[in-house]
Amino acid sequence: MNLDRKTFLRRLGAGAAGLLAARGLGAMEADGYQSAVTPAWSGDDPEGFWRQVRVQFPMTPERTYFNTGGLGPAPRRVLDMLTVASRQLQERVETGHDFFEQARAIVAGYLGAQPGETCFVRNTTEGTCIVADGLELQAADEVIFETHAHPGGSFPWLNRQRTDGIVVKTFVPDPVNAAANVERIAALITPRTRVIQVSHLTSPTGILLPVPAIAELARRHRLWFHVDGAQSAGMIPVNLPALGCDSFATSGHKWIGGPHETGVLWIRADRIERVTPRHVGAYSSDDRNLNHPGPFLYSPGMKRFEYGTRNAASVLALAEAMRFQTELGRDRIAARGRALAARVRAGFEQIPGVEILTPADPALSGSILTFRSPKLPFGKIFERLLADHRLRCRPVSEVGLDAVRVSTHLFNSPEECDRLVGALGEVLKKA
Ligand SMILES: Cc1ncc(COP(=O)(O)O)c(C=O)c1O
Repeated sequence: MNLDRKTFLRRLGAGAAGLLAARGLGAMEADGYQSAVTPAWSGDDPEGFWRQVRVQFPMTPERTYFNTGGLGPAPRRVLDMLTVASRQLQERVETGHDFFEQARAIVAGYLGAQPGETCFVRNTTEGTCIVADGLELQAADEVIFETHAHPGGSFPWLNRQRTDGIVVKTFVPDPVNAAANVERIAALITPRTRVIQVSHLTSPTGILLPVPAIAELARRHRLWFHVDGAQSAGMIPVNLPALGCDSFATSGHKWIGGPHETGVLWIRADRIERVTPRHVGAYSSDDRNLNHPGPFLYSPGMKRFEYGTRNAASVLALAEAMRFQTELGRDRIAARGRALAARVRAGFEQIPGVEILTPADPALSGSILTFRSPKLPFGKIFERLLADHRLRCRPVSEVGLDAVRVSTHLFNSPEECDRLVGALGEVLKKA
């Protein structure tokens, strides 16, 4: 490409800070921008470390954010990469498609995968659609997923029910007993079952489902096992081969802290050929000497699912988000989110009339806490917390749960959690 590729790559290696340094940081410093340096962990002052992490997120002080499960904020480093890479590519009028491979290597490393097993998608939903639409399924073939599946996980299969006559079967996720989830799925398996799908962590109430045990069940019955990882990657460390599934889709714009409209689909290397690409174009094939009419060969690995002109800046920024988390410590981030959720739980348990729906067992939960109260409908609780206390949670209307969801992530603080507890107490006292 004509872009000064060597220089760009060298700067890319240094992250957004390197890119920005080359353009001059002056304006941003004046704007309150400190630096894109990753805070260093200090066992002596963990809260000081987390305060520095918080500074990396340029979020409005007008409200306190507890909805990473819906949409996560991106740290400065990611926004810098997005902006600078966008501008440089625009200035040179280049797509930057070559950078996909560099970003892919980082993304694959973050997920414990091989680069050829990952492709960039717009969101979890698109990743799941590629699998649901690409598997060879006949009328009356059966697919199993949980009743708590998000529309991004359920609609791709419900659509095939509509168009191809497949049969969807659902199980109610057990929030208390991990093994019971495996048994509930096993009870639905028949000779017509072809696919099992679960959310790694369920969206409405944050139940962490026992994916490796479900993978074992799927393997025994020779079923395709797809995991909707929208709520897990970035919240907890995810190593895809260890999960044992065939495919996994996630969003960059939630727990990972990537730009909006980013995501990753992973398919185990030896399973890729079983998923037929339904949308193809330039880049779906490496063949540069096509003579029409075809045929054409698919690109090796998952690249075949990436067709047409794409936004290289956003995949570079997604990779940057993963580097940021890796440098901070992914176990540390997971433990922090869980500790904050536990703090909110302990506070809510002191408020009369609050029922917590998320499992207390750390083996069955993560950094999401969902609650409800018979004293006030969920919509009203959500509204009062936002309007009177400027606390942004997420109403949960799904499957009649009538609840409110709280997400706690690396930028949240113990003080924010205490404020949320105090605010809920006030809201329910007034009800
Ligand atoms: C479990 C689950 N799957 C899929 C999605 C859809 O995510 P996206 O809109 O990024 O595709 C969500 C969003 O909240 C989710 O929680």
